[in-house]
Amino acid sequence: MSTGIAPELVSTSVVTAPRLVFLETYGCQMNVADTELLTTILRRDGYEPTADPAAADVLLLNTCAIRERAEERVLGRLTELLQYKAARPSVQLGLLGCLATHQRDALLDRAPYLDLIVGPDGYRELPRLLRGGADPHVEVRLDRDETYADVAPEHGPGPRAWISVMRGCDKFCTFCVVPYTRGRERSLPPDAVLAQVAVAVEMGKREVVFLGQTVNAYRVDGVDFAELLRRTARVAGLERIRFTSPHPSDVSPAMIDVMATEPKVMPYLHLPLQSASDRVLAAMERSYTIAEYRDLLATVRSRIPGLAVSTDLIAGFPGETADDFLATERFLQEARYDFAYLFKYSRREGTKAYRLGDTMDEAEKGRRLRRLIDLQEEIALQKNRAYVGRDVEVLVEGPARRTEGFLFGKTREFKTAVFPERSHRPGDVVTVRVESVTAHTLRGA
Ligand code: 5AD
Ligand code: SF4
Repeated sequence: MSTGIAPELVSTSVVTAPRLVFLETYGCQMNVADTELLTTILRRDGYEPTADPAAADVLLLNTCAIRERAEERVLGRLTELLQYKAARPSVQLGLLGCLATHQRDALLDRAPYLDLIVGPDGYRELPRLLRGGADPHVEVRLDRDETYADVAPEHGPGPRAWISVMRGCDKFCTFCVVPYTRGRERSLPPDAVLAQVAVAVEMGKREVVFLGQTVNAYRVDGVDFAELLRRTARVAGLERIRFTSPHPSDVSPAMIDVMATEPKVMPYLHLPLQSASDRVLAAMERSYTIAEYRDLLATVRSRIPGLAVSTDLIAGFPGETADDFLATERFLQEARYDFAYLFKYSRREGTKAYRLGDTMDEAEKGRRLRRLIDLQEEIALQKNRAYVGRDVEVLVEGPARRTEGFLFGKTREFKTAVFPERSHRPGDVVTVRVESVTAHTLRGA
């Protein structure tokens, strides 16, 4: 069909038409934030994001390697996405993130149709690799200095902005792949963080969540995490500051002090424990004993008014005996966390604990996990019951997912609150009187 347009104009419009990229994220908040970075990097190179994989020229999965389940889900999804490539061979399919670094060789073997395999430190190279032709392009080198400090992430909707302030991890807990998949610890300069906070506030965000695998290990020259929080609290127009995930060993007196005294820093602390048996903690190389952890928990609770605390626990680490597990169960009972993320141990290649084998069958791991879940559900419900009749301050996020005519948001303690819709809008901070609760939600009037 003739369009009557001069050929050179046709070719110009073809070249400048944006290529569509479909990006799907797995795993932790760091990956969500990395996808926002990737969106910026790709947009600069003329790509437009699309939510429709059938329409996309480039399909990218930003993946997680922390447990085997996460890995299986990604591999399953890859075979699904392959249909789009089969229908249109020019479509490029790429696997990004921790699985890329962790399983590089196995991926070349199991998924030879991949056009790209790019680890967390290779995202700047993505536009070049996408232009690079037919062979699979692999960029999984780790880079001690890459912080993407100059790339302003393209934040999603809602009043909250996730900002990575440090990358990597130097802790080498024996069960964990992260130090291998994300490399060494490095922090963004404070000015770069504050510039990103200012941009977020300017675009209407009310809350920032600082992210890092061990976020409170943040340090650049003389500025530590406590000082970063203090400087951020001075940003006008910002209402709330959160962070995740801290490490118990990096909780400093100065950090406790700023949490206790700075109203913009929310009273919520994640303190991953993993196990309450000293024997297991030592085998995990967690660098604290249960007595030290117990002291820390008591200190933060006594110093920071109204503090909510959560944790991570792993059931079935190699060699975990019935007594070790009982210690964890008892401690969970004692600690009374507001919530907990509970996992079955997953043996990961390349980690120190890999050599220890997998000493417990999945059924027994599952039984132990179930006991922890049931116990924690009961505790969370009791903790939430204490909120009935109280007023909580909620940052409104949007319509509640399950209840028509209700909105939802987070309280200062990071609890989910749902309440009837009035004239509130996302981004408003409202006071809600709690009328009833479940283990996971506060319901307001
Ligand atoms: N198996 C099970 N859970 C793990 N985590 C990290 N590695 C593993 C593993 N191999 C959990 C830890 C950590 C959280 C982010 O994931 O509890 O704190
Ligand atoms: Fe993994 Fe331990 Fe580092 Fe957390 S602190 S990312 S569990 S190695």
